[in-house]
Amino acid sequence: EPRTRIDPTDPDIYLHGIPHAEFAGMRRDDPVCWIPQVRGSAGFDDEGYWAVTRHADVMAVSRNSETFSSRENTAIARFQPDMTREGIEMQQAILLNMDPPQHTAQRAIVSRGFTPRAINSLRAALQERASQIVGSVGTESGDFVTDIACELPLQAIAELLGVPQEDRGNVFEWSNSMIGYDDPEFSGADPMESAMGLLGYAMQMADERQTCPRDDIVTTLVKAEIAGEHLSVDEFGFFVLMLAVAGNETTRNAISHGMHALLSNPDQWELFKSSRPRTAVDEFVRWGSPINVFQRTTTHDTVLAGVPIPRGQRVAMFYGSANYDETVFTDPYTFDITRSPNPHLGFGGSGAHFCLGANLARLEIDLIFNAIADHMPDISLAGPAQRLRSGWINGIKHLPVRYR
Ligand code: HEM
Repeated sequence: EPRTRIDPTDPDIYLHGIPHAEFAGMRRDDPVCWIPQVRGSAGFDDEGYWAVTRHADVMAVSRNSETFSSRENTAIARFQPDMTREGIEMQQAILLNMDPPQHTAQRAIVSRGFTPRAINSLRAALQERASQIVGSVGTESGDFVTDIACELPLQAIAELLGVPQEDRGNVFEWSNSMIGYDDPEFSGADPMESAMGLLGYAMQMADERQTCPRDDIVTTLVKAEIAGEHLSVDEFGFFVLMLAVAGNETTRNAISHGMHALLSNPDQWELFKSSRPRTAVDEFVRWGSPINVFQRTTTHDTVLAGVPIPRGQRVAMFYGSANYDETVFTDPYTFDITRSPNPHLGFGGSGAHFCLGANLARLEIDLIFNAIADHMPDISLAGPAQRLRSGWINGIKHLPVRYR
């Protein structure tokens, strides 16, 4: 008998933040818990999923891709009423939704673009962008999300892929509408249409580089061949699609949550400005948990934390709960930018799918907060944060601030 009162993928329970009290109760009483019905789950042929809320169990699931497969729509534990089987299958062309050995081979190709060296080569350009973004805010007050937080993540991906300035606006809009569809503010756009727009754009880019190679990462990815494996133009298209979504909204929200938490805890903002602790970035990610949940599907009958789970069922890992697990984090509800160690699962657990862009995200977050501390040290909150209506992205849509 399910004891929980909530469906933790329900977007309405996140309007005031992560439902901490409910998650704490689930971690205590029902850590691997069957949620019988996902409203709006048409197009998907099962009737519910297992909610995993403890840190140790999320680790166990993420580590074992043989039992817990990523093939079935990893990213979205809750469905649009018009989500089709075809739409789900289309996503299997994305790295995120692959299992070994296919995943291993593809990841080896694309990880070339994300080595610490490759990321570090973007540092100077991104630092310059970060200063520009902060420096170009000309008003006394405004919306931190649209003025600052959203800019660097998009610019970083565009920089990484060599998307020209004039196309960056389109990439941004496609990416936004693919993620925020549960929120009325973004519901005008059709996520499938946006996906197609972005996919077409990426394929065109790959095609161009194939005929006209350049000295950039797109060319490297399109040309790369390891043991006979290479990315086709389609695969490349899906890869870019994934990057635009995976690296854009997530990092933006890490920045927005970080700023909101710093300004809500003035001692922490003072501490940041005076000592710039390197531990701050990971506390922003833990605190915000920009991705709230990803899921797996069991490939055979198994047992998790003593709970038997039959084959073919969905298992959802709630990072937004695991990152506040009181058995792992001292004072989890205290925002502490010097927290160390900080074994948060904001970038995924420890397995094969651990965030490919974690180093890039950390660099961006570090650069933007240093630019803010340098150029607008008197920034303060001017109103409440407005949350994105979503059960799988912990997002801040708007954050009113005074800049000086
Ligand atoms: C995977 C979170 C930034 C690219 C993941 C996963 C999480 C995550 C939780 C694990 C998926 C799974 O286990 O199924 C985040 C957060 C970010 C961030 C919170 C920002 C703070 C980025 C950036 C990029 C990126 C900047 C690239 C530009 C990816 C990719 C994967 C991934 C490609 C899939 C890896 C795979 O399946 O092997 N991310 N991410 N992420 N992330 Fe990130």
